[in-house]
Amino acid sequence: MADNLMDKIVSVCKRRGFIFPSSDIYGGLANTWDYGPYGVELKNNVKRAWWKSVVYERDDIFGMDAAILMHPKVWEASGHVESFFDIYLDCLNCKKRIKVDDPALKKATNTCPYCGKAGLTKPREFNLMFKTHQGPVEEAGNVVYLRPETAQGMFVNFINILDTKHPKLPFGLAQIGKAFRNEITPGNFTFRTREFEQMEIEYFVVPSEADKKLEEWIEERFKWYLNLGIKKENLKKRPHPKEELAHYAKACTDIEYNFPFGWSELEGIANRTDFDLKQHAELSGKELKYFDDATKEKFYPYIIEPSGGVDRSVLAFLVDAYFEEKVKDDLRVVLKLHKDLAPTKVAVLPLLRNRPEIVGLAKKIATDLKKCFITVYDDTGAIGKLYRRQDEVGTLYCVTVDVQSLEDKQATVRDRDTMLQERIAIDRLKEYLWDKLVSS
Ligand code: GAP
Repeated sequence: MADNLMDKIVSVCKRRGFIFPSSDIYGGLANTWDYGPYGVELKNNVKRAWWKSVVYERDDIFGMDAAILMHPKVWEASGHVESFFDIYLDCLNCKKRIKVDDPALKKATNTCPYCGKAGLTKPREFNLMFKTHQGPVEEAGNVVYLRPETAQGMFVNFINILDTKHPKLPFGLAQIGKAFRNEITPGNFTFRTREFEQMEIEYFVVPSEADKKLEEWIEERFKWYLNLGIKKENLKKRPHPKEELAHYAKACTDIEYNFPFGWSELEGIANRTDFDLKQHAELSGKELKYFDDATKEKFYPYIIEPSGGVDRSVLAFLVDAYFEEKVKDDLRVVLKLHKDLAPTKVAVLPLLRNRPEIVGLAKKIATDLKKCFITVYDDTGAIGKLYRRQDEVGTLYCVTVDVQSLEDKQATVRDRDTMLQERIAIDRLKEYLWDKLVSS
């Protein structure tokens, strides 16, 4: 059933224009995906909801957008050149690639835990960073990397922010952007890909307050997913055991979602200590300490980092919102996405598409509503089919214009989740929808 659900999500995404295989006409590029018309709206809404909650609704976080290409020394300082490796071995029989820390792997045997046959290669290291060259000539001196995390763009701007915004601790930087990792085992649709988007916060704190701030951020970020409609039973926190911590982290807790393929990481919230600022200070030779006016002390702040994946969040919101309901003899597929995330808020549908007065009125209503809400007009089928189509993409309200509307100047508004219908005066539609979509 669980895998089946994943197949249904992939299918609805392709059928309705959320997510397509990349370079589809060439047979696709493995594990690479393109967001279509509904997908890009959903993804933008997720990013907007995150930005609103961490930048606009707070006074202590500033937004940023750093370049993807950075000075190669950045990745020496961060530790990525030296230790951003995965170690794998391959089964010569079933060709499965197995991570050396896979618990299924029995040490000191040559047997594949998946096919049961003997024949494993020696462990090999894979650096996960994508390498390219800056400028037209490919030589060792101009190697640059596609960033494997957005975080470093914020650390290297720490001084620029101090000099321009003069913030007091604690304060943070927030950034959304692409990251690239040459993952050895990508898969599970958009869950693990080589090109993906991150939403990261680097929150600078007085070291003695780091443990407390870490706990606050874990709660804050957990609530964010719940507030956007993720079911509580599908979300959990998983503190990392010591041996799982990244080289820069003193503590880390993952927020995990119960995906159809099992509980998996949506976001990690880590205490990165002063590792990054110290490393960048050492390699750049620049002073990266914070000066506390009150105590006249200079020190490296600690960094609390809530780091989430845009694509993983989008996938979790899609899975969580997917419902199949039996309506009479029909199966209704509906995406019950939160109102802030649904790609389309309103659809205006004429009941009879061969009646020019009805079509004209419906189009006029749609044009008017578009000024306030993402609205579509659709007259390409019978009303039942139009409703089904809107349900599948999560449209919150359908406004239907019928013969009676020409006389009583009212339209029928159908609620996606309850399927209840109400007659509303056309000149009150905007106000009615505003109450439901914006002010509530
Ligand atoms: N700056 C810290 C950092 O990058 P991470 O746990 O490696 O930490 C943070 O990544 C988040 O980025 C993950 O929780 C996940 O949501 C997302 N992410 C990481 N690798 C990904 C991949 N290959 N595909 C999609 N999302 C990924």
